[in-house]
Amino acid sequence: MIDSHCHLADEQFAADLGAVVERARAAGVDGALCILDALNDDEARRADGVAAAWPNAAFAIGIHPHQAGAVEDAAGGLEGVDPSVRRLLDARAGTCAVGEIGLDYHYDFAPPRTQIEVFRRQIALARELALPIVVHTREADADTVDAIRAEGGGDVQGVFHCFTGDAAFARQALDLGFHVSFSGIVTFRNAAAIREAAAIVPADRLLVETDAPYLSPVPFRGRRNEPARVAQVVDKLSAVRGVDRDDVIEATRRSYGRLFGGRAVRSMPRERRVDARRATVV
Ligand code: NI
Repeated sequence: MIDSHCHLADEQFAADLGAVVERARAAGVDGALCILDALNDDEARRADGVAAAWPNAAFAIGIHPHQAGAVEDAAGGLEGVDPSVRRLLDARAGTCAVGEIGLDYHYDFAPPRTQIEVFRRQIALARELALPIVVHTREADADTVDAIRAEGGGDVQGVFHCFTGDAAFARQALDLGFHVSFSGIVTFRNAAAIREAAAIVPADRLLVETDAPYLSPVPFRGRRNEPARVAQVVDKLSAVRGVDRDDVIEATRRSYGRLFGGRAVRSMPRERRVDARRATVV
């Protein structure tokens, strides 16, 4: 199993990272995409520990919509978005995506126009570097799709992470050519619409994730989440889709490899990494 989205460099894992990785391995989780906040230097330092503890972890780096206001207020302003994310992508081995980026109108941390600007600049960067994007969207479906269409121009691949939309929105994501990733939310009792969406996503666009340390699946709700619990997401998708657990594992592993390049591209310099990623998109 691959956990396609977790925050392993979060301070909540600082004390027992080794044990967390060990439990993931024991549960059959043999890879993860670790999301890093481009504005968090402490997290960047802890990410070195993640890379050491789990060589199969890859990294995505981006400015989260919650941070859009902070960027606008910083010295470089919005002009600083591209150079700061670009510098971090270049500096870390194993980076394979720009994310998580997107729009969040539920929390009012920055006005929509600022969030859209920060999002679009990072889509443009991903397009230039031929990297996929990891998209966070909440109560902003139409603007999110518009931004990807306008700035991505059909060239940018990516995933709607921690999908919480219905089947109709899943179809919009698929129409963009995007993948759809389900988290522990799919196990929640009141998530019938999300399970309907999970039933219609084709196997070759399907991903699973934990979003750890957040969003523990049933029966661990309310406790710190960790990559080992992507197993509960796999189990639920297997039930919802009426297929074997192994089929879900195989399909999501392939999707992950196609979208992010997988392990093979981890340690390559960027130029070759991009070529290799293209070469593996079959
Ligand atoms: Ni996340």
